[in-house]
Amino acid sequence: MKIRIIVLSVLISSILPAYAQIDVEKKIDELLSKMTLEEKVGQMNQLNFDALTDDLVGNLKVGNVGSLLNVTDPEMVNQVQRIVMNESRVPIPLIIGRDVIHGFKTIFPIPLGQAASFSPEVVEEGARVAAAEARSTGVTWTFAPMLDISRDARWGRIAESLGEDPYLTGKLGAAMVRGFQGSGDLASRDAIAACVKHFVGYGASEGGRDYNSTNIPPLLMRNVYLPPFHETIKAGAATLMTSFNDNDEIPASGNGYILKNILRDEWDFDGFVVSDWASMGEMIAHGFAKDARQVAEISANAGLDMEMVSGAYIVHLAELVCSGKVPEEAVDTAVRNILRIKFRLGLFENPYVDTSKGSVLYADEHLKSARQAAVESAILLKNENILPLSEKTKIAVIGPMADAAHDQLGTWIFDGDKNYTVTPVGALKDEYKHINYVYEPALGYSRDKNKANFEKAKNAAQSADVAVVFLGEESILSGEAHSLSNINLIGVQSELLQAVKSAGKPVVLVIMAGRPLTIERDLPYADAVLYNFHPGTMGGPAIWDLLFGKANPSGKLPVTFVREVGQIPMYYNHNNTGRPAPDQVSMLDDIEQEAGQTSLGNTSFYLDSGRDPLFPFGYGLSYTQFDYSDLVLSSKTIPVNGSLKVKATVKNTGKTEGTEVVQLYIQDVVGSIVRPVRELKGFQRVTLKAGESKTVEFTLTPDELGFYGRDLIKRVEPGDFNVWIGGDSKASLKGSFVVE
Ligand code: NOJ
Repeated sequence: MKIRIIVLSVLISSILPAYAQIDVEKKIDELLSKMTLEEKVGQMNQLNFDALTDDLVGNLKVGNVGSLLNVTDPEMVNQVQRIVMNESRVPIPLIIGRDVIHGFKTIFPIPLGQAASFSPEVVEEGARVAAAEARSTGVTWTFAPMLDISRDARWGRIAESLGEDPYLTGKLGAAMVRGFQGSGDLASRDAIAACVKHFVGYGASEGGRDYNSTNIPPLLMRNVYLPPFHETIKAGAATLMTSFNDNDEIPASGNGYILKNILRDEWDFDGFVVSDWASMGEMIAHGFAKDARQVAEISANAGLDMEMVSGAYIVHLAELVCSGKVPEEAVDTAVRNILRIKFRLGLFENPYVDTSKGSVLYADEHLKSARQAAVESAILLKNENILPLSEKTKIAVIGPMADAAHDQLGTWIFDGDKNYTVTPVGALKDEYKHINYVYEPALGYSRDKNKANFEKAKNAAQSADVAVVFLGEESILSGEAHSLSNINLIGVQSELLQAVKSAGKPVVLVIMAGRPLTIERDLPYADAVLYNFHPGTMGGPAIWDLLFGKANPSGKLPVTFVREVGQIPMYYNHNNTGRPAPDQVSMLDDIEQEAGQTSLGNTSFYLDSGRDPLFPFGYGLSYTQFDYSDLVLSSKTIPVNGSLKVKATVKNTGKTEGTEVVQLYIQDVVGSIVRPVRELKGFQRVTLKAGESKTVEFTLTPDELGFYGRDLIKRVEPGDFNVWIGGDSKASLKGSFVVE
């Protein structure tokens, strides 16, 4: 009986969404049959909200607007919804968009920081909290997650990315989509529609200069830049945004091949596509369209459903349909895609915000999650027997990021309020009150060049047992249009660190930044380094939790840390050259010593910075140590469509409990195209008590083992594979198997 009920309920739950879907499509048909061509085009138009002007009211009444972005007052959301629902001929609710990137009010670590947690749970929870807060004010659509693979730390938007790896970005991006969109029901009052962006290739901007052209050839596109998008579309992402860049000479907002052939035909995407801000109109500056009329023609024919702010559709699209330049069917399809998401969001049933409900903004439970996320996102890069600190230690707290309430929130925080930030200094005042400390900021902000207070900082260090120096970047130094050509610690911060070190006390360097900075020159002046990508509202207490050992660092690098900016691009999943450098490649100093010898050979490395980065992808220390052994494969051979289980034992060999991110990498040794030296294909966070061991198991399926070949079809190729399991991308515990 029980089994029958279960079977029945499983059946019903699988049939219901299908019925609901048919129902939605019928409702869309009905609406479309009532709409004029102009009203349809109106749905494809998104305007930015400044104020409720007469002009806007007029546009809302005649059905010229499908979406508004940046309306943040719930009363105003209700007012604009009332206009379209009560005063327009065919009532269709607006979808209200906002950049809710790493939190709405409660700010979580920047996405790059969240990625360092290697934790889908942390990322999903961050998006769930953001969605609940945003929807409570009437926002129904966020422009996140950003899935742009970035191999260039000069690019300011690397902060918004989930790092350099397509597998990690895909898995965490999917978690973020689930978090924003709730458990499958977009209509629930704490879900908002996600928007995966920027489609596609934007993170590969030449030279790391924002908005720049990209040159991603088809196979690299298929194997590196597209997979995270596919993964998140499979997870149900409701919308997608095109990018600013032209790739291979075609601007993304006019690229029908990626918007139709790949996104719709291959991936079956049934949500809608929005342009980036004015990226349609900017095709004129690109030299791809001569005027706004041609812009509208190109984008409509390419399958771009909604235009963000540049206004070409609303002016020209109806006429283009009448003159036969754009088929009316293209407009119908776009409107269908948009209405489908509006129905799924439950906007037709209830377009209004319930302003009588109590506020969920900055709820205690949200702050707790943000603190946990900041803990799991911090990466311990160096520790020479100094951390964790005893709470009895007298501490000199130094540096411009120790009490930077706005800057620790990071980029893209439209709604986050710095008055809610708990900085490290704030946490000492509020929570860690028993700590004996002196505070000397020494610099007003990260770019401050005034060294007048360096002596005070040195004295503070002298008066204490340990100096904890908070350096990094103001939030303004990363994010959109904030690229840098020099990514050292900015200003005179390195000199401050040296001054503090000269006091002769142990130094703990805590960095808060929007990107992986080049810190090789700073390492000798720090006994320990804890790296935080801007950690958000609760960064302060999270950092002390880690420094005092209440929590054990577990973050791992989601990007390679280069030694020098000139090494960029450097990433772990590169192809091999025909002349790979040997393991111990010499640097300039060694070459001078070896003058006259040719033993270095003609291999691929830099004379002045060698072959390797400063820290590899996946790297991060703990207060304990982990040992890897006993790699076991379920089989030595598998068929091309087969799966394989890979197991290894991880042991906590240290004295404290800790969490390790166990990582699995593969290499397809010989391929019909060159394959990367390693590729991440699995990761798991494992918590182990001191002395405890655990067997960690991964399953490799054709999805992980396959790649797109010259015919642009994904398949597994027969041949030899290597597999590694370990704590970073240099993992040495190795096995091999054959695909037959
Ligand atoms: C431009 C940015 O590139 C995009 O990511 C953002 O969502 C839009 N502006 C809207 O603010």
